Amino acid sequence: MKIAIASDHGGFDLKERLRRHYADLGLIDLGTYDSQSVDYPDYAKKMANEILSGSADLGILICGTGVGISIAANRYHGIRAALIYSAEVAELAKRHNNANVLVFGGRTMPFEDVINYIDTFLRAEYEGGRHQIRLNKIEQTE
Ligand code: RB5
Repeated sequence: MKIAIASDHGGFDLKERLRRHYADLGLIDLGTYDSQSVDYPDYAKKMANEILSGSADLGILICGTGVGISIAANRYHGIRAALIYSAEVAELAKRHNNANVLVFGGRTMPFEDVINYIDTFLRAEYEGGRHQIRLNKIEQTE
């Protein structure tokens, strides 16, 4: 599975730590590449292009709280960005929502928690069935 990661300046430190932690997975780094102030919608756009073109299967997006970049990412048709705040939510974001972007707050979430959430999501399986009917309804209303 190809996984891309991107952040604004508020998520830069967490992005760098995740990149090092998951070095074996070879995360595709879409920036930002330093802690200079940038605009999170630009990184949501880069991620949407990466996922929707098929260059990556899963994305990880980070801003200060995760809120702004979630809002921005979910404007793109076909992006299902989930702001993850517990292991239970991580598991259900896969089983029920088949999320294709995981979102975290670089200033609000401890690194160890985020690792736990990502690992939990990666172990989970999408259930389809009634959940696919709901995802289809989202696709139709976007
Ligand atoms: C940037 O200062 C901050 O507003 C951004 O990272 C994010 O938290 C927005 O939702």
